[in-house]
Amino acid sequence: MDAAFIDRVKSNVEYQRTRKSPPEGFPAFPPIPGGRYTDPEFLAVEEERLWKRAWLYACHVDELPEPGSFMLWKKSGSPILIVHGKDGEIRAFYNTCRHRGGPLVKETTGTARGFVCGYHGWTYDLEGNLVNLRDPRDFVDLDKSCHGLVTVRAERLGNWVFINEDPDAEPLLDHLGVIPEHLAQFDLDTTRHVHSKSYDVACNVKVLLDAFLEVYHLKSIHKDTVDRFLDHRGTDIVLWPNGHSLMITPNRRDGWVDPGTVGMPEFPSVTELPATYNLSYNMYPNLVTPVAPTGMPFLVFWPVSANTMRIDCHWFAPDWGDGGRDPLWDTRIDNFERILFEDTQFAPQIQESVESPGFRGISLNYQERRIYHWHEELDRRIGPDRITPEYQVEQTLGDFVERA
Ligand code: FES
Ligand SMILES: [Fe+2]
Repeated sequence: MDAAFIDRVKSNVEYQRTRKSPPEGFPAFPPIPGGRYTDPEFLAVEEERLWKRAWLYACHVDELPEPGSFMLWKKSGSPILIVHGKDGEIRAFYNTCRHRGGPLVKETTGTARGFVCGYHGWTYDLEGNLVNLRDPRDFVDLDKSCHGLVTVRAERLGNWVFINEDPDAEPLLDHLGVIPEHLAQFDLDTTRHVHSKSYDVACNVKVLLDAFLEVYHLKSIHKDTVDRFLDHRGTDIVLWPNGHSLMITPNRRDGWVDPGTVGMPEFPSVTELPATYNLSYNMYPNLVTPVAPTGMPFLVFWPVSANTMRIDCHWFAPDWGDGGRDPLWDTRIDNFERILFEDTQFAPQIQESVESPGFRGISLNYQERRIYHWHEELDRRIGPDRITPEYQVEQTLGDFVERA
């Protein structure tokens, strides 16, 4: 994040505070069809074209601490085995034996020297190579080297591991554009994993994700919490290619610091921007992270069915060396959970509304443009030929999206 970007944000926030309308030429958004939030057939297409081909946050390296540590990960549907190899690399494979599909592991996490299929004993090493099989005399011309576990792309942004089931996907760091450079100030190779917790919510994944892409709702559902210190009218937004975006919201008072974080250790090289404003990144599609000098949550949104979803909250902190994490984290996580419950409180009723004949589409304003940007990207990924015409969104943002 360079000085020019920091200056630009400061002047944009002043512009946002005083503007009387959206900028010249900004489009009026057509309503987003409700069927995109309700129709199981739309979810099936979304799963095939988006979720099965996207870079998705999987875990932090602290969760795979030593060679042989593994995790069974099913967030994108198929069972995937993520393994810390002898060489220190993190690799991912389908948890699917090449003989007849037996599972290599059944536990969610553990440590192993290799993987033995429970069905007929085929054995694989930590790198996924088939190293042994029972009764090789009975296989005609079986080439072990062609029967290793099927790999899944696993790449890292610092200590964070992302998975992509598309073998042809663009590399993670290219796909994220300028975001890795922005986040470099958080010393990404040294962050520590603090805590993870999941919550089930009875709504389509996009109902809740939308709430984390705007601050138009602060004065209603967060009036006694976040709205007390954030000024949503000064919010600036940067829309990036590949659907990513950043929202920068100023504090109501200059110099305001979250009292819940006072005294907590900070990332030493953090710039003035995250220290002065609330910065929230969306790494498309489903990762939202509001970053702060003392650490950040990853809010990760997953579809479960057309009308149910799960949100995972993972917390990360600056390296705490050999000691334990700061005890203030417990209060901070509890406080955040209260705010999260403010966000989830209406989600099931909104889902009922979107399914009702009284719903005529989602009407979005200029402040909610990240949501429209998200949907435009979804249509680009699905491809217009694969979307029922009544569910399509028009591509309107054009030059309001930054170039790569
Ligand atoms: S299915 Fe794995 S050894 Fe047979
Ligand atoms: Fe909120």
